[in-house]
Amino acid sequence: MPRAKIKGIGTSIPEKILSNYDLEKMVDTSNQWIVERTGIHQRRIVEPGTTTSDLATEATKNVLASTGTAATDVDLIVCATITPDMILPATACLVQDRIGAKHCWGFDLSIACSGFLYALQVGAQFIETGAHKNVIVLGVDVMSSIIDYTDRQTCIIFGDGGGAALLTPCQEDEEGGIIDFIHEVDGSGGQYLCLPGGGSKYPANHETVDGKMHYIHQEGKVVFKYATRKMPELCLKLLQRNGYTSDDVSLFVPHQANLRIISAAADRMNMPMERVLVNIDEYGNTTAGTLPLALDTALRKGRLKKGDLVLFAVVGAGLSAGAMLMRWA
Ligand SMILES: CC(C)(COP(=O)(O)OP(=O)(O)OC[C@H]1O[C@@H](n2cnc3c(N)ncnc32)[C@H](O)[C@@H]1OP(=O)(O)O)[C@@H](O)C(=O)NCCC(=O)NCCS
Repeated sequence: MPRAKIKGIGTSIPEKILSNYDLEKMVDTSNQWIVERTGIHQRRIVEPGTTTSDLATEATKNVLASTGTAATDVDLIVCATITPDMILPATACLVQDRIGAKHCWGFDLSIACSGFLYALQVGAQFIETGAHKNVIVLGVDVMSSIIDYTDRQTCIIFGDGGGAALLTPCQEDEEGGIIDFIHEVDGSGGQYLCLPGGGSKYPANHETVDGKMHYIHQEGKVVFKYATRKMPELCLKLLQRNGYTSDDVSLFVPHQANLRIISAAADRMNMPMERVLVNIDEYGNTTAGTLPLALDTALRKGRLKKGDLVLFAVVGAGLSAGAMLMRWA
């Protein structure tokens, strides 16, 4: 079976910056508190009217252009998002139409901050079975559409943006690609990070709107504890069962939820911060968007080269978590 590799990354990053100083004028917070408690300095926010499919289409066009791939050669689009343009049709269908991918199927995948890594694994299965040659995996969110900008616990964390990866099979003589993964959910913690309104439980009505049920609600401390425990646990298990230790990892690419979560996870894994990709200061938590944005940062800064062992980790609503090991090809 051929291994699946990431052939390229394309991103879509909104121009508008929402800084901590802007937030100081909106809620009772301070730049110092946000930087010390989260590591975030600013985040990007879309202009009103810009949708997830706008960002996803741009990111997909960028990765197709940079890898010299025709849209008509795309077999499958898996779009990880919790902020689709609409409940239906799926955002993947909107992207398919807008890029002119005429021979392709697709669907959305909804598992919040774990979305991109889960979607990557789903896409990889179709490469490994030989069913497909070109799979677009998107991680994109317009979090500003579901954030209450009067809630200082959530509005300081999230930003908009994301990216697309093109998955293709490794050549026979090529060493690399996705090696292994461990994904895990714990639905008993669902209430700690949720958006209750607008589904079949609480269909949209005046009460759900007045009750702010269409915004993200979180118990920050519970999520924090789960994240700092689960990310290192899954990563160490994954490394061990593949015969590696943290010392073998060239780059650790964690979900960008909070710099303190990232540092605590790295610390528990004995991973020096020089080998950890951090860009939360620039973008905040873009939910499904953080990993493609992190890979883009790594590539632009020359921190990722052929042959590198890369370890990914995610954590998010569900509760959900995951880890993936990849040899960069
Ligand atoms: C949300 C989060 C940043 C809060 O940080 P924290 O250190 O846990 O802060 P606490 O909730 O203990 O609050 C400490 C104090 O700061 C206050 N506070 C909370 N948000 C604040 C803000 N934006 N500005 C200033 N003060 C704030 C609290 O009211 C509390 O005040 P009190 O001591 O007078 O009661 C942190 O819990 C977190 O990052 N959790 C994970 C969230 C996450 O990653 N979500 C996405 C999952 S992928």
